[in-house]
Amino acid sequence: MRDVAIIGVSQTKFGELWDSSFRQLIAEAGLNAIEDSGVGGNDLDAMFVGNMTAGLFIQQEHIAALIADHTGLNPISSTRVEAACASGGLALRQGVMAVASGYHDIVISAGVEKMTDVVDATPAIATASDQEWEAQQGVTFPSLYAMIARRHMYEYGTTREQLAEVSVINHKNASKNPRAQYPFEISVDKVLNSTVVADPLTLLDCSPVTDGAAAIVLCPAEMAKQYTDTPIYVKASTQASDTITLHDRKDITTIGSTKVAAKKAYEMAGVTTKDIDAVEVHDCFSINGILAIEDLGFVEKGKGGKAVEEGITHIDGEIPVNPSGGLKARGHPLGATGIAQAAEIVWQLRGEADKRQIDGAEIGMTHNIGGTGGTAAVHILSR
Ligand code: COA
Repeated sequence: MRDVAIIGVSQTKFGELWDSSFRQLIAEAGLNAIEDSGVGGNDLDAMFVGNMTAGLFIQQEHIAALIADHTGLNPISSTRVEAACASGGLALRQGVMAVASGYHDIVISAGVEKMTDVVDATPAIATASDQEWEAQQGVTFPSLYAMIARRHMYEYGTTREQLAEVSVINHKNASKNPRAQYPFEISVDKVLNSTVVADPLTLLDCSPVTDGAAAIVLCPAEMAKQYTDTPIYVKASTQASDTITLHDRKDITTIGSTKVAAKKAYEMAGVTTKDIDAVEVHDCFSINGILAIEDLGFVEKGKGGKAVEEGITHIDGEIPVNPSGGLKARGHPLGATGIAQAAEIVWQLRGEADKRQIDGAEIGMTHNIGGTGGTAAVHILSR
């Protein structure tokens, strides 16, 4: 197996982007990542694109071919990767494995979703849950995570204010991120008093509906310095699965796939939680910002709420979480999220994150899940 490096990254602005189509978004992200990497378009051997459900959002399938064609990369090998909201993380992992195995040298892993063209995104997003046992019974993603939040509050005494604080920190970080969907600060009071979506979660506990794309260029580590002075190395790329339904889990306050993928990633990279300087976690709802730091091993189970309240997840805290603003405030274009998380960690490790820069960041981590954790992908990156 060969070591793998990231030599180029990019992310479009995230938001409700009426003036950009699906194909324009992915082309913008892809071409900017290629430019950032210093490779030529003709040097690319393969492309993996994370996308959850273009069929439902824009009535377009066969997107791998569409993107290769629209970006002028034909006859490149182009493959779509789908694992709900973890599609981007898995597209990155497919790219890493293709380069590590020696099958391809220069690969682009990207992600894209155009969610705002439908009147109601909720039924499309709900296809990431179990149709027979969950969606068709009327549950939605906000309500699934609301049940997890209630249980966490009951089991561990997590407070409503602690959940709100996850969103407050994300918005503070996003206010320093020009690519974020919601680059403004909010307060705990504002979260508590915003519209109830699924009790106890309000509008400001939820990630939004987002258009956007992101892309990453990978190559063998030994070739990276030909293209860039600041390669970022992939130290671990792991993936795990859990039950798709919540009711099949022994404990709905733990996401088993996150725990397994994280454990394998620490082993593969030869690091512990103490070595991680920056982490982008999958906080699609505020409760997930708490579950993630517990299941990734940064704090003990049940102590996540208190840890957030004490401020350890701030950019200048002990474990800086989501310097980008996270899914909550940077935005969550499902298939693009896993790639955008890795792009943010690359900017942090290169020292290019401007006002949201974490001082001296050398090792970073991304955590991307699908649905309520049926799939999890974890990456550890280092300078
Ligand atoms: N955070 C902050 N503001 C939000 C927001 C969010 N999550 N969602 C919408 N808004 C804002 C909009 O910008 C808009 O502001 P404006 O009036 O100033 O223009 C206003 O709230 C109303 O927006 P609208 O699009 O009508 O909201 P909505 O009620 O249709 O949708 C949610 C709100 C929370 C239901 C929707 O964002 C949602 O479904 N989020 C979850 C997405 C999801 O499940 N992702 C997968 C996770 S696994």
